Amino acid sequence: MQTVTQASQAPASKRDVYLQICQQLDALLTGETDIIANAANTAALLANSLPDINWAGFYFLRGEELVLGPFQGKPACVRIALGKGVCGKAAETAETIVVRDVSQFPGHIACDPASQSEIVAPLVSWGKVLGVLDIDSASVGRFDDEDREGVESVIAVFLEALAGSDWPDLLDESRDLEDA
Ligand code: SME
Repeated sequence: MQTVTQASQAPASKRDVYLQICQQLDALLTGETDIIANAANTAALLANSLPDINWAGFYFLRGEELVLGPFQGKPACVRIALGKGVCGKAAETAETIVVRDVSQFPGHIACDPASQSEIVAPLVSWGKVLGVLDIDSASVGRFDDEDREGVESVIAVFLEALAGSDWPDLLDESRDLEDA
């Protein structure tokens, strides 16, 4: 009996946590194509499901700037120039960036001084960068390659829900991958 109890209390692996998030997100977003509503629910689900994080949210690309989208956490910087900070760098390169210690990332933009580590993944669809998903933690070294995989799979579910919709004006101001 004791063994069963212990087994049932074993913490879920990161992989399992992201798998569950993706399943819940798929159920939440299926049938809805509004990018703001879906981004809001995605941020809320991440904030309520991922341990040890203090901010989760979106920035969408408008011309040469990222503009704050739906998020959970403390109020954040509204505009980030392409190439600036972790978010601007991820949007510019179209690559996920895992920052173990934000104090070691040149140009890191501190919206919440509590944030110590960060992962930023680009939203890439139809050969364009639409924006980024940013997640912060108050612990150094919170994110690793498993989070990279997990966050990218969350983005895949988010983008899948928008597929086939009339893409919003946001896309017109997104960034062609050829420029990355
Ligand atoms: N730290 C980010 C800015 C956004 S906030 O963390 C919400 C950056 O360096 O781009």
